[in-house]
Amino acid sequence: MNLSLKRKHFKFKNADTVMLFLGEVGAAEQKKTLPPECSFIGRSLDRSYFKGKQSEVIFIPFADNPAVILCGTGKKGERDAESLRRCVAGAVALCRDRHIEHVHAVVPELPEVDGAIALSAIAEGMYLSNYSFDRYKTKKNNNDTGRLKGAVLYTDVSNAAMILKKVAVTARNTLLCRDLINETSEKSDSVGITREAKKLAGIPGVTCTVYGRREIEKMKMGLLLAVNRGSKKPPQLVVLKYRGNRHSSKYLAIIGKGITFDSGGMNLKPTGHIEDMRTDMAGAAAALYAFKSAAELRLKKNLYAVLPLTENVLSSDSYRPGDVYTAYNGTTVEIGNTDAEGRLVLADALAFTQKNLKPDSIVDIATLTGACLTTFGEIVAGYMTTDDTLGKILEDAGYATGDRIWKLPLFKDYEENIKSDIADICNISAEKNAGTIIGGTFLKHFMSTARWAHIDIAGTARHSKQRGYRPKNATGFGVRLLVEAVINWRG
Ligand code: BES
Ligand code: MG
Ligand code: ZN
Repeated sequence: MNLSLKRKHFKFKNADTVMLFLGEVGAAEQKKTLPPECSFIGRSLDRSYFKGKQSEVIFIPFADNPAVILCGTGKKGERDAESLRRCVAGAVALCRDRHIEHVHAVVPELPEVDGAIALSAIAEGMYLSNYSFDRYKTKKNNNDTGRLKGAVLYTDVSNAAMILKKVAVTARNTLLCRDLINETSEKSDSVGITREAKKLAGIPGVTCTVYGRREIEKMKMGLLLAVNRGSKKPPQLVVLKYRGNRHSSKYLAIIGKGITFDSGGMNLKPTGHIEDMRTDMAGAAAALYAFKSAAELRLKKNLYAVLPLTENVLSSDSYRPGDVYTAYNGTTVEIGNTDAEGRLVLADALAFTQKNLKPDSIVDIATLTGACLTTFGEIVAGYMTTDDTLGKILEDAGYATGDRIWKLPLFKDYEENIKSDIADICNISAEKNAGTIIGGTFLKHFMSTARWAHIDIAGTARHSKQRGYRPKNATGFGVRLLVEAVINWRG
């Protein structure tokens, strides 16, 4: 889809479809929000049918005027960037149902939402809701929903072009992130994801280093290798580097869990839990496309993206409960459960990153625990941190982008749960409770030299049904969150 901009002095043609935004407000404010060309709507609209409630959408065809899509923005005070994204999602769904391919959208001027934020939100809502994964559909059915091909956004906001550029880059990368996650585990395997990562080396300032099986063995990343044992596919460790700020030596590293299929291993997942486990690389995908966005936007920050990639599958070579493996940093780990594999590959990646890349801060993002889905549902991601400044940057980025996160504690008391009889630590807890915090506590054990936050996206990375601009299946959660956090991180 192509989005373009026009100033608010314009002429619509009869054949156009115009998207207008109206709130639950009095006639005076309504007049202000409607362009003069559309004042006929303000005059003749029966407000008992269209109230302007949040996410109310109607389509009105006219004989000798452009067709109008009216979107309700809701009451004063309940409108913000996220409500506008949702509002647009409803309007885009209507367009797709009716196979309307081009629209003219008049960006509303709302008293409580900054013009730049309203423009961003409307553009984001359009990109993010105009998505479906239909690569494997051989027949395009007439009943299928269409796709918006283009939209013109009418606004008088200054530096609108710059705002739209940022949205276009991050939103498109969010869609690519969804594609990589929705793709089969056969294609989005360790080598497939590495291939995507290598492509980024074409962007100015970006270099990509890939460690294969031999190098990973040589480096003694015993935990990544343990998880990989059952697989014919090689483990890969991808390190992407972007130098955007020559005046600083500080780096932020984003590490993403890249389990390309999580069968659970010997602790095999049952039917009902195994089906969607190709999405267990959603953290790696989010890290990859957030990194790509930052580099494409030429942000003045120094960044790493580190992706430990492997599948967790069964064979007679698979690692077993009761085994002990030595991590990259020398810590010995008892395997209590082969399904707690994400923390293992991340532990090696965290240790590797601190020792070799020496970043100032690390954010890891992972579909780590089913317990996180139980706690937060599919709505909010859980996070833990050892640095409240970093935590605040992430939380604020969550509110700004709608990829919201909520903090859980990392009190020392939890550490006794991962004690092992035979090794330094165990990869599962002696108790069944606090699963998400135990995951974070295990990872914290591998942190020594960098500020750190861990985001558990087990619930938010994949939706079991469509919600607004987030489709069913991969949501691309984390890409926009991380880009916003990188922008606000002081590097
Ligand atoms: N990939 C799963 C977590 C997950 C579950 C993500 C559901 C998305 C939806 C992870 O590797 C896992 O299996 N975790 C176990 C840990 C347990 C064995 C300590 C879990 O949550 O059951
Ligand atoms: Mg698992
Ligand atoms: Zn997993």
